[in-house]
Amino acid sequence: MKQIIEVGVKTRKVELAECKTDMLVVGRFSNGGPDEVIQALDKKLGGRIDRLAKLGDFTGKPKTYAILYGEGEIAADRVMLIGLGEQKKATLETLRKAAAAAAGRAVDMRVKRIALALHRAFGDSLDAAAMGRAMAEGAYLGSYRYDEFVTASENGRLGSLDVQIVDPDASRMKSLAPGVAAGRIVGRAQTDARTIANRPANVINPAVLAKTAQDMLRGIKTVRCTVFDEKKLQANRMGGILAVGSGSRNKPRLIVLKYTPAQKPAKGLPTVALVGKAVTFDSGGISIKPAQDMDQMKFDKTGGVAVLTTIKAIAELRLPINVLGLIPAAENLPSGSSYRPGDIVTTYSGKTVEILNTDAEGRMILCDAIAYAAQRKCDVIIDIATLTGACMVALGTYKAGLMSNNDDLVERLRKAAEESGESLWHLPAGDEYAEEMKSKIADLKNTGSRWGGACTAAAFLQQFVGEAKWAHLDIAGMDVFLKPTEYGCVGGTGFGVRLLTTYLMNLVEGK
Ligand code: BES
Ligand code: MN
Ligand code: ZN
Repeated sequence: MKQIIEVGVKTRKVELAECKTDMLVVGRFSNGGPDEVIQALDKKLGGRIDRLAKLGDFTGKPKTYAILYGEGEIAADRVMLIGLGEQKKATLETLRKAAAAAAGRAVDMRVKRIALALHRAFGDSLDAAAMGRAMAEGAYLGSYRYDEFVTASENGRLGSLDVQIVDPDASRMKSLAPGVAAGRIVGRAQTDARTIANRPANVINPAVLAKTAQDMLRGIKTVRCTVFDEKKLQANRMGGILAVGSGSRNKPRLIVLKYTPAQKPAKGLPTVALVGKAVTFDSGGISIKPAQDMDQMKFDKTGGVAVLTTIKAIAELRLPINVLGLIPAAENLPSGSSYRPGDIVTTYSGKTVEILNTDAEGRMILCDAIAYAAQRKCDVIIDIATLTGACMVALGTYKAGLMSNNDDLVERLRKAAEESGESLWHLPAGDEYAEEMKSKIADLKNTGSRWGGACTAAAFLQQFVGEAKWAHLDIAGMDVFLKPTEYGCVGGTGFGVRLLTTYLMNLVEGK
């Protein structure tokens, strides 16, 4: 997929003072001094960095920055200082956000080349490869802009950004480099996820999403992409996906992505299924939603988009693990052919579901795909979906909900969340919740009571996982930035790409 802003991230061994670039970026904590490499740079600059700090003009608080202009003392045209906040609170996410802030400013200033030495401030407190990865990811995230449909070009931005991650120490550079390479792949995948998410429903429908997947994965020999069209969905009795898709002229699809690594997976590694909800537009169907903010329901495909781009990333990373990506895609619209409240739908598993609300459509498409993964004997099933407004009410826009039937999987996902900066919060989905989803006239109904909607939705999905270890990620509220952040412009966030790739990388590394 073509990038909107072509971002290149490379590593380079160079003395900071000799680094020729449009903007050299260094970090500073609000307490604690700079490291010796930055001190040496400041010496060349006649102590101007230190003076800014002493005058109180730049204190290193988070979300602050200052720019100094060189007068020939150093090779860089500018030095950007980024505030890293308190040292004891600093994590990989601090570094990722700092790199993002620098890349974002570079785009706004129309600066073409930047050099990041942000990791220097962290010394050895964090793993070097992890720091390289975080900076590369941050560079992609922060420079991201979505303007592919803007034809007016006044204030035109540059079409590319060159990012170098620089360090004078060869051995340190060597430990950063593999992380940077991984971060480039993951950052790029997340950028693609954001662009697909941002495309509206008149541009992306289930068939177009399937085509996008095929185009994106063409040339990657380790991924087989199969698309179930309406006929094949019917032949397979995938009644949930068909019901949700029945109201739209844009017919539903199931996108199946089978990743088989070139290198044989280590013994004992599970086969993992990633299942992502892709409702290309959710009007609610016959149980139609209010008009206010309905435009945001173009983001109801973001779970599926995260699965697609994660599969691409792990194939590029050549992770030795078998992964099945399943993306049920449908458009939920009201019409004369829509499914209705009161309908009883027979799902792929054979279980019947009484429809009480056509707006609870995510679980209806997911249950078919989850049952398919269970039937394929996947050991682990992770689904990711903008499933419930209730999850957003519970957790806000800072954390995704995590429900699971397995404690080890919860721990692993929590660790991946910590490392990737894509945050999770464990919520329940036990028997009490499942009880609410029983119907009197079918096996299940598709809504529970007024309370605990995120948990009852998860409990519904759990009925389809068979023997698999299962986790559900409710990403409602995480799918879209409503205002600009360090991670760039409003719109799709690409949430889940870093989290899922990190989870899989850790599995492979036996962590
Ligand atoms: N896609 C929505 C959930 C959603 C809401 C995501 C707001 C992001 C922001 C989902 O399909 C939905 O409509 N869920 C209903 C379920 C209810 C009818 C049981 C909801 O949360 O209201
Ligand atoms: Mn809905
Ligand atoms: Zn929905």
